[in-house]
Amino acid sequence: MDLAQEPGSIPGKSEIMSYFDPRSGTLDRRVFADQALYDLEMRNIYARAWNFMCHESQIPNAGDYFINYIGEDQVIVVRDKQGEVQVLLNTCRHRGNALCRAEQGNAKSFVCSYHGWNYDLNGDLIGVPGLSSYYRKDFDKSQWGLAKAAQVDHFHGFYFATLDPDTPPLHDYLGEVGRIGLGLLVANGPVEVVDGVQKNVIDCNWKIAVDNLFDWYHVQYSHASAATAGFMDIAAILHPNNQMVMFGQYGHAISGPVIPEKMQAEIDTLSDEQRIALARSAADDVPRPPLRLRAAKELLGPVGVRCIGHPNIFPNLWVSTNGTQLSLRLPRGPFATEIWWFTVLPKEMPEEVKKKHIAFNTHLFGPAGMLEQDDGENWSQSTRASRGVKSRAYRHNISMGLGHDEVLTEGSTVSRVETTISEHAQRWLYTNWMNWMTADSWADIKTNHPAQPKGRV
Ligand code: FES
Ligand SMILES: [Fe+2]
Repeated sequence: MDLAQEPGSIPGKSEIMSYFDPRSGTLDRRVFADQALYDLEMRNIYARAWNFMCHESQIPNAGDYFINYIGEDQVIVVRDKQGEVQVLLNTCRHRGNALCRAEQGNAKSFVCSYHGWNYDLNGDLIGVPGLSSYYRKDFDKSQWGLAKAAQVDHFHGFYFATLDPDTPPLHDYLGEVGRIGLGLLVANGPVEVVDGVQKNVIDCNWKIAVDNLFDWYHVQYSHASAATAGFMDIAAILHPNNQMVMFGQYGHAISGPVIPEKMQAEIDTLSDEQRIALARSAADDVPRPPLRLRAAKELLGPVGVRCIGHPNIFPNLWVSTNGTQLSLRLPRGPFATEIWWFTVLPKEMPEEVKKKHIAFNTHLFGPAGMLEQDDGENWSQSTRASRGVKSRAYRHNISMGLGHDEVLTEGSTVSRVETTISEHAQRWLYTNWMNWMTADSWADIKTNHPAQPKGRV
């Protein structure tokens, strides 16, 4: 047992590169239980990545804002008077007070509650009490505007921001896997985020929650209670032998069920009207989104259109295709994660149907979700056990399927496997996590990020 490392000291690069061993598929539990590593994650991952902020429908008018985070940096995502979306750090330049306390709303400007400095919607400092009297006019307001994200961009109305000016453009960062992930939400036409983002804290490390979204092994066991209660038919959603894992660049991945090629070929022969009719007739109590319409194939590509699994946009944005939701897993120290749920629905959906979707999603995930109750408890205990001096010496086993699958490349710009339930996506996650954690800069990540898997994985 290696207890040589003092708690709190920053591990070196070779130490970090030993945390996940791709040959044995084992993982050092220290990655879940170390403040120094967590601090490094904030700097090397969250400050460099494109982080999801909100959807355009949440801030349609000038002055509309939504509070979010880039790692531990709280930001105000606001539409300014010119209609541009600004991402401003929510910290006053005077003594650092948070400017905006509400989670979302509309503002004409942001006035600090401490001494009254007033900032315009684009972050400019426009008012300082006592400028002539106390400051004796010896103060340059233009130098004291709010700090801003280095880059802001959107994909199909989903806004992202990064603190790093060197992060590649959003489109390139997302790559095919990220674009499929968000594309799945808009494949049937324009969407909106319904009002009310559900938020709760689970006592787990954020990576345990990310690992879980790729994990179709736990479904039949952990969620047996949901099946017993009649909430869902696990056999109907699991498709254990029709599973696909796509290896996106920078650590994005998709893992879960896939429509077999033969079945997709049959779907391809149907008109949009036939697809909608089929989806309606298949619906039970829960209204499912219609089968993807013909245009979806153009948007998602021949592989993406068959995806019914779970995409994760690295590091922490899960596109949940179960009930068309986005989930952010916001790190709150090594031992806690704030889970946010955004419900994304077609703009044109009738109000009555919308209500059913919202009710279904609320029962699925979030603080009242049946599945998240099952999962959250397991994540907490997995994290909790990583704190023990003795317990943490035992590595996690992430070896399922290792060395048993052939990589496919046709039809897509990224590698994938089509196989049974596996842990390929988790291995990809940690391989990339180590790369981010040991990279010196974006130039380093761009040059040295893990190559697309080839051959047998
Ligand atoms: S801290 Fe904001 S005005 Fe003083
Ligand atoms: Fe689960």
